[in-house]
Amino acid sequence: MRFQDKTIWITGASSGIGEALAYQFAAEGAKLIISSRREQELQRVKDNIRSECLVIPFDSKDFLAVENAVTAVIEHYGKIDVLVNNAGISQRSLAIDTQALVDREIMEINYFATINLTKKVLPYMMQNGGGQIAVISTRISHK
Ligand SMILES: NC(=O)c1ccc[n+]([C@@H]2O[C@H](COP(=O)([O-])OP(=O)(O)OC[C@H]3O[C@@H](n4cnc5c(N)ncnc54)[C@H](OP(=O)(O)O)[C@@H]3O)[C@@H](O)[C@H]2O)c1
Repeated sequence: MRFQDKTIWITGASSGIGEALAYQFAAEGAKLIISSRREQELQRVKDNIRSECLVIPFDSKDFLAVENAVTAVIEHYGKIDVLVNNAGISQRSLAIDTQALVDREIMEINYFATINLTKKVLPYMMQNGGGQIAVISTRISHK
């Protein structure tokens, strides 16, 4: 039970990999924060979890909302042991068919938003003597 009583924040927890991670960490006795844009879906995930679970919805592109989310998490738990940056989008199309706007949107959500949240969480982890940061990434394999 490596994550027993650890405070773990999972972004993109309303479906897919993030939702599955929430159940795994909860089974290990972690205290969770689950985030994404769709609050109703996050509530559904929370309803499947018996341990402590805080729902904090936000759009990770909205930097003010991210700041408020970090404040809310710290007010509730006082610390963050593990941050799992999982929120992201993917696109399956040939490079030649993919518009620049789509490239930009992917970078905004998967790259810049991840860096932004991580840098906002980092001071609290350092204050607490450390922490773990994970990133669920993707590869771009344009043909
Ligand atoms: N499944 C794969 O084969 C695969 C392969 C390589 C990489 N990945 C990466 O793994 C991560 C999870 O993917 P998945 O397959 O589990 O897909 P998914 O089910 O679509 O999950 C993506 C999650 O990100 C959230 N999200 C998207 N845009 C957001 C935004 N602007 N702000 C906040 N949350 C946002 C979504 O929730 P809301 O819609 O509620 O906001 C959702 O919970 C992604 O970063 C993806 O790029 C997946």
